[in-house]
Amino acid sequence: MNIAAQPVIEADQTVYLKDYQKPSFLVDSINLDIQLFEDHTNVDSTLVMKRQTAGDLVLLGRDLELKSIILNGQALTENEYQLDAEQLVIANAPDEVILNIAVQIHPETNTQLEGLYLAGEGLFVTQNEPEGFRKITFYPDRPDVLSEFTTRVEADKKYPVLLANGNLLEKGEAGEGRHYAIWQDPTKKPSYLFACVIGDLAVLKDSYVTSEGRQVALEIYAEEKDIPKCHIAMEALKHSMRWDEEHYGRPYDLDNYMIVATSAFNMGAMENKGLNIFNTSCVLADEEYTTDAAIMRVQSVIAHEYFHNWTGNRITCRDWFQLCLKEGLTVFRDQSFSEDLQSAAVQRIDDVAVLKAHQFPEDSGPLSHPPRPDHFVEINNFYTATVYEKGAEINRMMATLLGKEKFRQGTDEYFKRHDGQAVTVEDWVAALSAGSGVDLSEFLIWYNQPGTPKLEAKGEYDAAAQTYTLSLKQSLKAHPKYPNLKAVPIPVALALFDATTGEQLTLNADALVENGVKDGVYLFDTDSATIQFTGLKAQPVVSLLRNFSAPVDLVFNYSDEDLAFLLQYETNGFNQWQATQTLLERILLNGHDADIYIQAMKQTIPNVIQHDPLLASRLFDVPAEGYLGSRIDSDYSPVKVQEQRNALMSTLARELGSFCKETYLSLDPSAQKDFSQAMGVRALKNIMLSMMARQGDEAVFELAYQQYQSTGNMSERLGALRVLEWNDAPQAEAALTDFYMRFKDEALSMDQWFMLQAAHPKATAETIAYLTQHPDYDLGVPNRIRAVSGGLNANPVNTWSFGVQHFIGLAKYLDEKNPIVGSRLLQALSRWYTLAEPQRSEVKAELEALKPQVKSKNVSETLNSMLSV
Ligand code: ARG
Ligand code: ZN
Repeated sequence: MNIAAQPVIEADQTVYLKDYQKPSFLVDSINLDIQLFEDHTNVDSTLVMKRQTAGDLVLLGRDLELKSIILNGQALTENEYQLDAEQLVIANAPDEVILNIAVQIHPETNTQLEGLYLAGEGLFVTQNEPEGFRKITFYPDRPDVLSEFTTRVEADKKYPVLLANGNLLEKGEAGEGRHYAIWQDPTKKPSYLFACVIGDLAVLKDSYVTSEGRQVALEIYAEEKDIPKCHIAMEALKHSMRWDEEHYGRPYDLDNYMIVATSAFNMGAMENKGLNIFNTSCVLADEEYTTDAAIMRVQSVIAHEYFHNWTGNRITCRDWFQLCLKEGLTVFRDQSFSEDLQSAAVQRIDDVAVLKAHQFPEDSGPLSHPPRPDHFVEINNFYTATVYEKGAEINRMMATLLGKEKFRQGTDEYFKRHDGQAVTVEDWVAALSAGSGVDLSEFLIWYNQPGTPKLEAKGEYDAAAQTYTLSLKQSLKAHPKYPNLKAVPIPVALALFDATTGEQLTLNADALVENGVKDGVYLFDTDSATIQFTGLKAQPVVSLLRNFSAPVDLVFNYSDEDLAFLLQYETNGFNQWQATQTLLERILLNGHDADIYIQAMKQTIPNVIQHDPLLASRLFDVPAEGYLGSRIDSDYSPVKVQEQRNALMSTLARELGSFCKETYLSLDPSAQKDFSQAMGVRALKNIMLSMMARQGDEAVFELAYQQYQSTGNMSERLGALRVLEWNDAPQAEAALTDFYMRFKDEALSMDQWFMLQAAHPKATAETIAYLTQHPDYDLGVPNRIRAVSGGLNANPVNTWSFGVQHFIGLAKYLDEKNPIVGSRLLQALSRWYTLAEPQRSEVKAELEALKPQVKSKNVSETLNSMLSV
């Protein structure tokens, strides 16, 4: 059998980028008829197909019961096609084909939350990216097959809402208490963007007029009681639509835009054409029920999915190796959008904190892969921090280098060239280069290589010559699967400061040109280089990688005093924060003295609180134990890291003395001029509260209990509850019970209740057992599993003791029930090999023992990679 039209699935199930071939048949149009019943669903489809290249006609399908297949009016018998667990192949098909296919599926028992599935009481939804559509019907389910979809949905009238992509053509009675709706999507799309929703939901409506004058109906569907929590998302949607017009010249292209909220969802949200489906955690926002951080996340995910309409939907990916084409670009776009919603420096801090906490460790361990991998077993395993976050950083580097205007010319060219196409990373970089007039092709290296480059910098001042020489060196750790690693282009944003006045120095313009420093950015794209600054009467303080201009691990011979200086005088808020983080890493991991850090904080913080309370709250960040652990490559002792960190926190609290209480009492969130300031003040108050608890001040519990009782804001309530609960305060039990009684019907608030207890610094195996046996714990709802598992994982000491059994148990259980989530959770153990003995061997043995017990491609690929160090 020749299946040349498909990436070859070899015996070991690995798919390679180099094997990509065009599909032999394209689909002009598809008519889908989905009839939902209590115990099964019938799906009838008509595909109008045309040959494009030689080869068999290949339809992908999984877990489908084939009822009939008719080709150009002739029913096919079993020997006229080949059917296996993954595909249906028709050899020698004519060049023009009309296929009628009838299958039966079982959404009512689908626990994998992929394809069409029951998402809780009275709601059926779809999740088809990347390969879910093949669980609905036989189809060339690959992103380079674009087709026009018409969808008829039929169900019992107890499900009043029947939705699919595009415009509603018709709806009506279907007899026997049933009804139907027919939807048509005028834009051609790949099958992963198909969606339908069947259920009993309420709706929030609004409208928007595009820059082209198109009137768009906006609808957010959710449970009746949650409709009041949809207003922030609706505002964010309208804001995103305007933002994309203003910043990228991209107006919306359909007459409606629908969003549906479900609590049973594997990921954050999904950009299905005109019919987004969202995890409730990424759409419901209300200060009474969700935290400030969650509200910010809702706005960014709404923007993210909306932005996909152009970067993802109208221009999509040729194959799944190109996933970072749409995700990296769309994350970069949503990060830029969020920079307009709050202090831009804080947005950058938060984005880099995520990158460093998740992407850097991933890229330094056994799961490391390039943003565009060249092989995979299960593509669901590649929705990673590397594809998303590092992918975004690559786009940010190119944008930084080009500047606003040229970057816009580049993106304009991309939309002009490729609208309506399925393209590659090369196409994107070529369009960006052509439009901007700047050759960016060397940035392709970033897409194709794994690992975080190490950037070693050395600065030397020559007093006699009045010069400052900066030498740069880059290197990458060798990777077994990716030999021939090359130097990458690294935009190094930099500034020099006067060490006595703290002012930024204006640099000698000629020298800058000679050195290739443009607009404060030096493009470093060789193995090593030196640049020299002249005319400096005294030794300057240098700030490198401002705003984190490249995703590299910077090692610079700053003195601790230089870092303290930058905390005080850097005008780039991100680099102020970075200075604290570098200092803290030196203190916590390299035994440096904490005094310089503490004195600098004392001098800087009061002033920052005055003008940017949100930034001030971030300057108190102390790297989490998990992050610190990820910086240790061998002989890692979680207990030691915990002791170090606790000791520092206590010193800091003690040194700050009465400042904590004074600050706490002086701050008033309700007196702030906007949400972002108020959010900063709330964050600061909570930090002060926990510092006071560390000071051993018993009176703090009364203050915390008061804050808990008197507020209507979730960040304040949770912050107070955390201080009570984590310090085993006398009021803790009462507050915890009160929280439960107040919010027991609010799933997102209850997730916080579970997480807070699981993350208790003294949580034990019994704590976790209590939570996982709680009647409100539900293995069918990923959000709830993540709440407990995420809380547990906040204490690496626990992760690496009883947590090992917890995560292995989940991987085993979810291997069949929900392999996407199972594989993800197992990754909590991916740095097992860095542990000190005997822990290292113990965990390894447990992982080895799991191997023969798992079947899914998802979990086995992850496990195999994890064990391949
Ligand atoms: N494209 C979606 C987003 O980033 C994510 C879908 C991920 N789905 C999955 N099964 N891995 O907006
Ligand atoms: Zn996305």
